[in-house]
Order: sequence, then C-alpha cells, then structure tokens
Amino acid sequence: MARIAYDDSSAAAFTATRHLDADGLASWRAAVARHLPTTAGARLLDLGAGTGTWAAAFRDWYGVDVVAVEPSAAMRARSVYPGMVAGAAEALPLAAASVDSTWISTVIHHLPDLPAVAAELRRVLRPGAPVLVRSVFAGRGGGITLFRWFPEALRVVESYPSVAEVCAAFEEVGFAPAALESVPQISARSLREAADGLRRSAHTPLLLLDDADYARGLRRMRAAAERTPDAPVVDSMDLLVLR
Ligand SMILES: C[S@@+](CC[C@H](N)C(=O)[O-])C[C@H]1O[C@@H](n2cnc3c(N)ncnc32)[C@H](O)[C@@H]1O
Repeated sequence: MARIAYDDSSAAAFTATRHLDADGLASWRAAVARHLPTTAGARLLDLGAGTGTWAAAFRDWYGVDVVAVEPSAAMRARSVYPGMVAGAAEALPLAAASVDSTWISTVIHHLPDLPAVAAELRRVLRPGAPVLVRSVFAGRGGGITLFRWFPEALRVVESYPSVAEVCAAFEEVGFAPAALESVPQISARSLREAADGLRRSAHTPLLLLDDADYARGLRRMRAAAERTPDAPVVDSMDLLVLR
C-alpha cells in the first residue's frame, strides 16, 4: 500500500505541479542514457509510471518500446502516455524475461515489501538488464530545495528506504549496485512560480507533515519568494542503478 492514496485529488495535484518541462528533463536524459540499453526493439518497464511523462520522454528520446505499469486508476486516467497497464510492482502483469530495463521514478518509498518487488523484477528482466531508481533516499535529502523551508519534511524522508536497504533487497535476488549519481534538475523556472503553484497533496513528505509545520514552511517559502522571486529552483535527486 502506497504511503499516500493516489486518488483523484492527489493525481490532479501531481499533474498540475510535478511535471518537469524540457529544461527539467534535460539532465535526466543524459544521465539515463549512460545506463539504458537503447538497441532497436529494446523494451523498458516504467514501474509506477504515474501520469506517463517519463514513459513518453523515453519513447521520444531513445526510441525504446515502453510498457508503463501503474496501479492508480486516477493516475492512469491523466496519463500523457497511451496504453498504460494496470498493475503493481509486487505482481507484474508481464512474462518472465520479457524486458530489457526498468525505470522506477519516485516510487521506491511506496513499496513496503522491497524483497518481493526485487524478486518480481528479477523474474521479468532479462539477465544483465538494469534497474534505474530515481529517488530521494533516507540520509540523502539535502539536495531538495523544498526542505529548506519545510525542514520537518526531511524527517519523513528519513523513513524512506536508504540506498543500502534497496541494494540489500536487490542483492538477495542477484542484482548488484552499478552506479549512484546525484542528478540536478530544474524543478521550476522561478521561486515565485514554485511558491504560487505549490500543491501540498503533490508531495508525499509535505502531506505527511503536521499542519502547523506545513503552515510555518509555507510562510518561509513565500517570504523567500518575495526576496528572490526569479531564482530558479534546482533540486538534486539520486539515480541508483543495479544490474
Ligand atoms: C510520486 S508518483 C511517481 C510517478 C512517476 N513515476 C513519476 O516519476 O512521475 C508515485 C507513483 O507510484 C505508484 N505506486 C504506488 N504503489 C505502487 C506499487 N505497489 N507498484 C507500482 N506503483 C506504485 C503510485 O500510484 C504513483 O503513481
């Protein structure tokens, strides 16, 4: 069970505020290309594909065949990628040894049974195929700008899986860590735009704060946006690769 319900309201907030534009996606395009098999006909699983922005980008960037699996009907209904498949990480609706890579973006903290997920990915991936995990991991949340104003949200991140925990679950079924890099992304063109557009329900760590901490953080963020309205918002997230 995910930490938050991806119902109509959070799916709408996610669609409105969490889609990166071309500038935001650019650094990921280069980082992912270093690890992804992109030979003709290669099949990529986008696991927990949400509203399909990564699936569409990968299809366009690399020409790979993307199968996008997503459990939430509300997220699938808003997808920009056609043909999303209903399904969850613990029981993938895919044949054994049928995919060449897997992309898991900001999903790993919603998967309470990582060993079961790792075993399922071992089943559907061909031998040697990489798993690319884009996430904020416990102990590594310092690159997220929002936490400057919502420092209590870092405590929520401390309850996310750590890199070591993810690696341990995957090592059990034969994967080994291959790379860990911090990737900067432009999350918003300006702090003013980020503050005006902030939707609490689009961010798991903000949803799990208590209301007083959220209100204080919002005041801090708005004050910062008054001081430096034009500053771009640049966040760094991790890319963990296992194969
Ligand atoms: C923060 S969203 C990320 C969506 C997308 N990957 C992205 O980066 O834009 C988290 C997604 O994980 C999905 N999710 C939650 N539990 C899941 C599970 N057990 N298996 C697969 N996906 C799951 C949610 O439905 C939601 O769409």
